[in-house]
Amino acid sequence: MYVLGIETSCDETAASVVKNGADIYSNLVASSLEFHKKYGGVIPEIASRMHLDTINFVVEGALSQAKVKLRDIRLIAATTGPGLGGSLLVGIGFAKSMALALGIPAIEINHLRAHIYSAFLGRQEKISLPVTGLVVSGGHTSLFYVRDFDQMELLGATLDDAAGEAFDKVAKILGLGYPGGPEIERLAKKGNAKIKFKCSDTPKPLDFSFSGIKTAVLYYVQRRLSQRIRQRADVAASFQETIIDTLIKKSLLACEIKKTRRLVLGGGVVINNRLRERFSQAAKYAGIKVYFPQKRLSMDNAVMVAGLGYHLFRKGYRGNLDITPNLS
Ligand code: KG4
Ligand code: ZN
Repeated sequence: MYVLGIETSCDETAASVVKNGADIYSNLVASSLEFHKKYGGVIPEIASRMHLDTINFVVEGALSQAKVKLRDIRLIAATTGPGLGGSLLVGIGFAKSMALALGIPAIEINHLRAHIYSAFLGRQEKISLPVTGLVVSGGHTSLFYVRDFDQMELLGATLDDAAGEAFDKVAKILGLGYPGGPEIERLAKKGNAKIKFKCSDTPKPLDFSFSGIKTAVLYYVQRRLSQRIRQRADVAASFQETIIDTLIKKSLLACEIKKTRRLVLGGGVVINNRLRERFSQAAKYAGIKVYFPQKRLSMDNAVMVAGLGYHLFRKGYRGNLDITPNLS
């Protein structure tokens, strides 16, 4: 069963054809990132206009790369939230119209749950359920207990900034470019994690809070730091280690509480090599198996949307494709 996936929740216009939830026939991603860089963050109006400009080409490209005819597509899966309203609207409008014209069903996909599914894609080894799932992206930091692909229980989420957002903001404080994650990772390699930063405690242990550490970095930089590269690198390294410590601690706690021995990760921050290295070490020590998505599937993409769509469709789910920017 060929499924066409469409993802437009933020600044990436993505389309993909996936067979039976597993075989990746195409994966196209057009990003409007370059147009947002000078503003230091994604500008929603620019993002939605760029989606409008590119979606036809991206979907056409995904079909031709897959060498699949339109009439062979049996289902269209589109992200309906969480995300930017105007951006979601473009993908949803396109998916709905296409499904109607072709006389095939469409299904709505939650972006965070799709990030969890990305770790299940493109691997020989099957991951048995249940698992604990952690999504670490620019907009979210959420822990799930994944009984099945249609049963993902939210265990905890950030109370303020997402981890990726904290990377982006701290990069700005350090005078680095946008997006901040890769810039911090690069600079952190040259520094020592010797500065004591801390993530704020949360009333519920599986929630996250990253706005306090961002402010702590700001005060540190204002008070002590001349813009010497070595010191900035130490700040980057210390900040990165503290964020990773917190993500590891809470993920392992979730595994313990839910008695799962498997942990899957997803989201843009999971591209970070230091994060992968530290999670692998910590999980091994705790006797837990950790699974990362392939790097190209960590960032926003439509493969994860088509893949999850297949499973949900087979379980009987259908969708109105109503736009839900604050989808929980
Ligand atoms: O999942 P994603 O592509 O988009 C959202 O759904 O938000 O994640 C984007 C986030 C950005 O905040 C970016 O700074 C972060 O992922 N990111 C990284 C790295 N590469 C991207 N964070 C840490 N280290 C990286 N190497
Ligand atoms: Zn995402």
